[in-house]
Amino acid sequence: MTTATAVLREMRWWDIDPVLELEHELFPDDAWSTGMFWSELARARGPRATHRYVVAEDPDGRVVGYAGLASAGDLADVQTIAVSRSHWGGGLGSELLTDLLRHATAFECAAVLLEVRVDNTRAQKLYERFGFEPIGFRRGYYQPGNIDALVMRLTVQGTETD
Ligand SMILES: CC(C)(COP(=O)(O)OP(=O)(O)OC[C@H]1O[C@@H](n2cnc3c(N)ncnc32)[C@H](O)[C@@H]1OP(=O)(O)O)[C@@H](O)C(=O)NCCC(=O)NCCS
Repeated sequence: MTTATAVLREMRWWDIDPVLELEHELFPDDAWSTGMFWSELARARGPRATHRYVVAEDPDGRVVGYAGLASAGDLADVQTIAVSRSHWGGGLGSELLTDLLRHATAFECAAVLLEVRVDNTRAQKLYERFGFEPIGFRRGYYQPGNIDALVMRLTVQGTETD
C-alpha cells in the first residue's frame, strides 16, 4: 500500500532504532523502551502471531510512521500509532489504522479497543472517522501528568455479536 510519500510494510527488529527516535519525539513523556518493542515484535511473526506491527517508509527509506495492534481472543487493542509531524494530514495515519483493522479481521477479532489521551483531539477525530465510539474513561491513565484516557471501541465488520 502506498501514499504519494510512503510505503507500508511489516515492522522488523532493525526498525526499532528509527521507530524509537519518532517515539521520543511524539511521546516525550511516556515513550516505549527498546525492550517493549522487542517484546511486541516477538508476538508478530509466525503461524501463531497475535500482533501486527507496521511501519511507513518514505522514498529515502526513512521510517515516517508506525503502528501496532495486539489481539487476545476476540478482542484487539491498538497499542500504538504515530506519524512523523512532517507527514501529518497526508492520510498516513489513516493508512496505518486501515492496516491494523485488516489484521484485526484476520485475527478474527469481534472488536478493537484503544485508549487515547482526552486532550488528543487529532487522534480522536481519526478514530471517529473509522467508526470508533467512546465507551468510557480511564482516570489518570497517562503518567506523568495524571491525564485521563478516553477508551474507544470499534465493532469489526462482519463479526458483530451484540
Ligand atoms: C494521530 C496521528 C497518527 C494522525 O496521523 P495523520 O497522518 O496526520 O492522519 P491522517 O492524515 O490520516 O488524518 C489526519 C487529518 O488529515 C486529513 N487528511 C487525510 N488525508 C488527507 C489528505 N490526503 N490531504 C489532506 N488532508 C488529509 C484528515 O481528514 C484528518 O483530518 P481530521 O482529523 O480533521 O479529520 C498523528 O497526528 C500523530 O502521530 N500524532 C502523535 C502521536 C499520537 O498522538 N498518536 C495517537 C496516540 S493514541
